[in-house]
Amino acid sequence: MDSTKANLFLCALLVTFSWLNSVDCRRKIFNAVKYGAVADGKTDITKALLKSWEKACATKGGVVAVPKGNYSLGDITFEGPCNGATHFLLEGTLIASNSGSSNGKDYWVAFHNINGFMLYGNGTFHGQGESSWGQPGYPRKTSVKLRIENGVIDNIHSVDSKMFHFHVHDSNNLMLKNIHITAPEDSPNTDGIHIGNSKNVKIYGATIATGDDCVSIGSGNTNISVSGVLCGPGHGISIGSLGKYTDEKDVQGIIVRDCTFKDTQNGVRIKTWAPSKSAATLSNVQFINIQVENTKNPILIDQHYCASSSCKTTGESRIKIRDVKFIGVKGNSASEVGVNVQCSSSNPCEDIEFRGLDLTVAGSGEPATASCSNADGDFLGPPQVPSKCSEDCN
Ligand SMILES: *[C@@H]1O[C@H](CO)[C@@H](O)[C@H](O)[C@H]1NC(C)=O
Ligand SMILES: *[C@@H]1O[C@H](CO)[C@@H](O)[C@H](O)[C@H]1NC(C)=O
Ligand SMILES: *[C@@H]1O[C@H](CO)[C@@H](O)[C@H](O)[C@H]1NC(C)=O
Repeated sequence: MDSTKANLFLCALLVTFSWLNSVDCRRKIFNAVKYGAVADGKTDITKALLKSWEKACATKGGVVAVPKGNYSLGDITFEGPCNGATHFLLEGTLIASNSGSSNGKDYWVAFHNINGFMLYGNGTFHGQGESSWGQPGYPRKTSVKLRIENGVIDNIHSVDSKMFHFHVHDSNNLMLKNIHITAPEDSPNTDGIHIGNSKNVKIYGATIATGDDCVSIGSGNTNISVSGVLCGPGHGISIGSLGKYTDEKDVQGIIVRDCTFKDTQNGVRIKTWAPSKSAATLSNVQFINIQVENTKNPILIDQHYCASSSCKTTGESRIKIRDVKFIGVKGNSASEVGVNVQCSSSNPCEDIEFRGLDLTVAGSGEPATASCSNADGDFLGPPQVPSKCSEDCN
């Protein structure tokens, strides 16, 4: 798109997100091609892209542009703060290198410390993950790491990350909309969007097919909203894992709504480690209007989570789970147990509420069952399936 069209597009977006509307629409474009980027899929454009970033960041309201085409890109950090809101128009495909060098970084591309940021343009981050999956010693890198204050990521694709596709951390007021993520079902740790230590993050509309959690919400998060996500294959939408590290912070105010799961390992899940290295509270969580199709664990609270077989089986989780609502979770379960709530015996779950469940077993059409332990759970009307736990909910 030429710069005029780009500006019109920006203005349309800015009207939609009024908290960015103090920004001048007449922005200056810094096209990476003008700084030496070559779209042959081979020439490394890291220097050219850094140059355009420096220029855009220094300009009040600059825009980095990467036109259509394939570009090879090494590890890169787009560092703020910038002299005003800075945008990144990605129409092309950025392709990660396969050099296997670690550079001591856990990411390929980072946008760091930027206040007022927009990344858009229907372009793609291609992580070339197949070179690293299952290779011991190969550096595991997140494709796109974001530390943003006031930002929008809109209409961006991520393919085959080496580790997480997107990792949002220490951010505030960030919206991710129309995100498209694909990686094979058996690719390890390729979480779609992982969020940690952030507040006011909104994921709105996403298609995520990957090898691990579609969305994972880690410790220290407040006021996170996830809606309109189509997940599958993948491990569902998870809060956690929590309790793996010391000094983890509370998680509160999480809402996941209007999401669909197809052929996933889990639907909506909370997982905490046992034994846990930290004590924290997870509270004020709502899962609303969730559709599952052939999902193994539609609703799962697992306080005995352990990703490796070497974990000690003694010791309980010290993460307190309180005030969690599951409202309108419907569809079919790939296992008989549609609701599986296994809480900590030393810190039982409190105020777990189920309303309007309608879960049958895929294939047989039999009603799914509920299994609970160490949980204070209430099945409230209307009549629902399952309507109670097969074991005592206390
Ligand atoms: C980019 O690379 C892919 C895969 O190698 C190829 O199919 C596509 O045509 C390329 N796109 C452009 C614009 O060169
Ligand atoms: C957006 O990107 C996707 C994936 O690369 C492509 O299939 C689609 O045609 C693009 N849409 C437009 C409007 O360019
Ligand atoms: C939570 O986030 C929403 C936007 O997603 C915002 O409107 C609301 O003010 C936030 N609440 C708090 C307490 O920050």
